[in-house]
Amino acid sequence: MALDMWHSAPLRRFTTRIEGSTDLSALEGARYIVMTAGRPRQPGMSRTDLTGVNAEIVGNVADGIRRYAPASVVVVVTNPLEEMTHLMAKRTGFPSARVIGMAGVLDSARFCSLVALEGIARPEDVDAIALGSHGAEMVIPLSLAKVQGRPLEQLIPKDRLAAIVERARDSGAEVVKLLQKGSAYFSPAESAASMVAAMVKGDSELIAACVQSGGAYGVDDTRIGLPVRLDTDGVKEIAELPLRPDERAALAAAAGSIAKRISELA
Ligand code: LAC
Repeated sequence: MALDMWHSAPLRRFTTRIEGSTDLSALEGARYIVMTAGRPRQPGMSRTDLTGVNAEIVGNVADGIRRYAPASVVVVVTNPLEEMTHLMAKRTGFPSARVIGMAGVLDSARFCSLVALEGIARPEDVDAIALGSHGAEMVIPLSLAKVQGRPLEQLIPKDRLAAIVERARDSGAEVVKLLQKGSAYFSPAESAASMVAAMVKGDSELIAACVQSGGAYGVDDTRIGLPVRLDTDGVKEIAELPLRPDERAALAAAAGSIAKRISELA
């Protein structure tokens, strides 16, 4: 696969060397690590069904990261996302800012791409952010969703919008079901890559990512999808967006559920 990707270097105009390895020592000196290893879902499985088997995989890789790339920033993709992000942070001992879960970029992109299917805008012109969990407790604050500055709630009827939110929330499972073997990879890969590219550039555009919430939004202190800005060293800051009371309540409920699942990890 590495050779196959490298063959595309002249076409994609990159010089980054690509190497495959089954030995974690290959992580030596890495600045950014994207952790995707883990069992994918099978049709009918929830992300949480993967907890036991993936916790072991994440634990092993975390030990390798601590040993070979102690200064790296880790982007976790392995599911269940919040639990595995937490485990990665605990097991590496890295500060929260250097362990980031990738879900919000993907879930936001899924929502925006599905809104675009309504034929009202190009995908890139839809602006929305997916917070909460990467799963049942996903929160897409519709009060913030816009199409070229116009409130999305004025452009799409309420029940239609609710159906799109629902489809975005279940998009991972929808792809798993279509594939029958394995889970989505093109859009998750683009999402993780865009986060790394943003960090490399030191760019601080607002994105959603799974981070340690601290006191933000008045929710339980846990790992949850929130609006953040990244810089070269990981999470630069959590941004406080003006959510509606019902959206805040949904975020608080999500935090409660996630905190419970994380406490059950031990
Ligand atoms: C998905 C995986 C990446 O949502 O969690 O497809």
